[in-house]
Amino acid sequence: MDAIAIKKEVGFAAADEYIKSGMKIGLGTGTTAIWCARRVGELMRQGKLRDILAVPTSSQTELECQQLGIPLRSLNDPEIAGELDITVDGADEVDSDLCLTKGGGGALLIEKIVAYASKRFIVVVDSKKLVSHLGITFPIPTEVLRLARVPAEKAFTQLGAQPEVRLAVKKMGPVITDNGNILLDLTFKSPFDPRKMEVDLSLIPGVLGNGIFARCKPEVLIGHPDGKIETIR
Ligand code: 5RP
Repeated sequence: MDAIAIKKEVGFAAADEYIKSGMKIGLGTGTTAIWCARRVGELMRQGKLRDILAVPTSSQTELECQQLGIPLRSLNDPEIAGELDITVDGADEVDSDLCLTKGGGGALLIEKIVAYASKRFIVVVDSKKLVSHLGITFPIPTEVLRLARVPAEKAFTQLGAQPEVRLAVKKMGPVITDNGNILLDLTFKSPFDPRKMEVDLSLIPGVLGNGIFARCKPEVLIGHPDGKIETIR
């Protein structure tokens, strides 16, 4: 199977297996998680899923859900009351303890709020995302208040990271997130303790979010090139 087919397979599987009528769901961002949203839309159109309320993790997912006719709410809405039954999202890296990095699509801040507000967190990836150590091959994104860039860069360097401002592709200058901030991607030369690093990064003033997800106990669906889907809990 090619890369897109694997992403579709695993995204569809998450919707088919885990999302039930009446659920309040978080819908993730990226080229894998979007297939879960598409499948939810399809099942709703077929009448096989009813009474779904969804919280999107980005403007990408919000737009897609609006096109699919999936009813959207915020975490603050009384119908959601700050807690979701389940969230399905992608990841950039998954280690053997099921610690993750996320934020390749720049949505890490809302993705983390939504994931940590969910009773179950399902992660959909292809097998290329499995790594022995986080942050070595794929940089760890952080969302930073614009006025805090330089002090944050210094603090990142002290933690052993090389920070780089993420630049936009079809616009000059930095990527501006859905929340109006910039992204600094961190590359580490040597392995670190993800649980500790997630907290250390979150203590830096002006750093609003980081892409390490080490405290969320995900269930990970891994799509393989032969079409098999493996589940790791
Ligand atoms: C976006 C994310 C994505 O879930 C992550 O980057 C994986 O994306 P893809 O499935 O396209 O590889 O965290 O902020």
